[in-house]
Amino acid sequence: MTKFNRIGVLTSGGDAPGMNAAIRAVVRSSLFAGVKVSGVVRGYDGLVNGNFIEMTSRKVSNIIHRGGTVLKSARSDAFKTKDGRYLAYRNLVEEGIEALIVIGGDGTFTGARIFSEEYDFPVVGIPGTIDNDLYGTDMTIGFDTALNTVVEAVDKIRDTASSHERLFFVEVMGRDAGFIALRSGISTGAEAVFIPEVHTELEEFEDYLVNGAKELKSSNIVIVAEGDELGGAFKLADKVKAKFPQYEMRVTILGHIQRGGSPSAYDRYIASRFGVAAVDALLDDQRSIMVGLKHKEIVHIPLSQTIKHHKEADKNLMDLIKILNF
Ligand code: F6P
Repeated sequence: MTKFNRIGVLTSGGDAPGMNAAIRAVVRSSLFAGVKVSGVVRGYDGLVNGNFIEMTSRKVSNIIHRGGTVLKSARSDAFKTKDGRYLAYRNLVEEGIEALIVIGGDGTFTGARIFSEEYDFPVVGIPGTIDNDLYGTDMTIGFDTALNTVVEAVDKIRDTASSHERLFFVEVMGRDAGFIALRSGISTGAEAVFIPEVHTELEEFEDYLVNGAKELKSSNIVIVAEGDELGGAFKLADKVKAKFPQYEMRVTILGHIQRGGSPSAYDRYIASRFGVAAVDALLDDQRSIMVGLKHKEIVHIPLSQTIKHHKEADKNLMDLIKILNF
């Protein structure tokens, strides 16, 4: 066991609903173990600029239900430089911080791993990204909430698509992974889903439209992952319009509403477990690991593994879309 006097916590990269619940859990479990906590404002930029706040138990009350991150976040270019990381190290030492918990995605973990090796500094990662694309964990903080936000939006679009008998292309986030698109496609009964992990056979979709028309199918919803090889919903719609000018089509880009909103019960739950597990791991001499969830159990994954491997959406689930739209 290592006895730390003070640790630091930060959120970095794209924010995700549930990050506040994780911050709260890190602070409360650290104080419970007699360890003080400094919050780093604006992610790695805050480390480089020495922007810290004292995290007390009161400071994290009434945030478990709030979306976003009370510590703010940023995508830091400065931390990608040796000089920037040196400044960060000096500021950590000056603040008396002896270990760091970073909440974010693979970009955040890449920075953490380099820094941890350069300065032999204890770092533990908590998976926080709506994309759910982190190797080593079944779920990341924010994915469940983003999914429910998409499902709610698509249900609304279904209403107007049915009223006007239109074909809708709905683009969702996910960077270069299809988790949000695939899960929301199944959960909303979408007629087709396009994801980066699967080569898109446009002919297959066109055949589906033709058959649908024969059965007098009046509305169609197509979910398109932003990272799909065809370049997103507008480009896909243009291609389909060229072949099927008779279809009335609309395109909706859901965008950043997927990043906000009060976190779901599930995201608050896993964020709380990850927060406590990350502090336990640090006190238990774990270094350069991410805490994850495998079959409901907390696991420790080396950051090197998390960064090296790319987690892909389950292609087999694409069959479900076909079967369920038969
Ligand atoms: O990683 C989270 C995410 O929302 C991705 O789904 C999306 O591609 C990206 O971040 C958007 O980044 P930004 O908020 O910088 O536009």
